[in-house]
Amino acid sequence: MPDQPRRPFLYVVVCAAGVAPGVGTLISAAQERGWDVGVVATPLAMGFIDPAAVEARTGHPIRSAWRRPGEPRPLPDPDAVAVAPATFNTLNKWAAGMSDTLALGILCEAYGAGVPTAALPCLSAAQAAHPAYRRSLDVLRGMGVRIGGPDPERPGPGGFPWEEALDLLGIPPVTGG
Ligand SMILES: Cc1cc2nc3c(=O)[nH]c(=O)nc-3n(C[C@H](O)[C@H](O)[C@H](O)COP(=O)(O)O)c2cc1C
Repeated sequence: MPDQPRRPFLYVVVCAAGVAPGVGTLISAAQERGWDVGVVATPLAMGFIDPAAVEARTGHPIRSAWRRPGEPRPLPDPDAVAVAPATFNTLNKWAAGMSDTLALGILCEAYGAGVPTAALPCLSAAQAAHPAYRRSLDVLRGMGVRIGGPDPERPGPGGFPWEEALDLLGIPPVTGG
């Protein structure tokens, strides 16, 4: 039997926003589109999600802390990264090049490694009004990060647009046939 070709691997970076418990929607959508998924959660986001349920859904350990020197890498390298939901805090630190969580370390390196990256900010209008946020979006867009998500001024009625992250990354829905 020939080896099955490896499915492309998506990192879903989850931050500590109120919608984070719904991340299973994005994981399932990516799997339906033919991708394997690993979740990287910020330390605070670990308190927002159900880690056992996420691990059962992905079949991979959630990463949140750095591994110890000499430990094997728990996930393959990513072919693409989706940051959803992306918090005010993580977006500003990412744009500033800060790396004090594993999630930020991965995001900062994704740019240099040329890994396509999309982010769905999830924040209030009051947070979005801070001048640092506009500057951060400009920096991230300049790095090639594809930014989507709800408009903080006019959040729509339809819930958080999880699948937009896949669309921004050019991961198409699989059409039946
Ligand atoms: C219930 C709850 C909901 C939150 N929702 C958001 C949110 O939607 N967007 C945001 O930027 N911060 C939100 N926060 C604040 C973040 O959790 C906080 O800024 C935290 O430092 C973010 O950490 P992280 O970026 O490392 O995940 C929320 C906090 C709580 C307790």
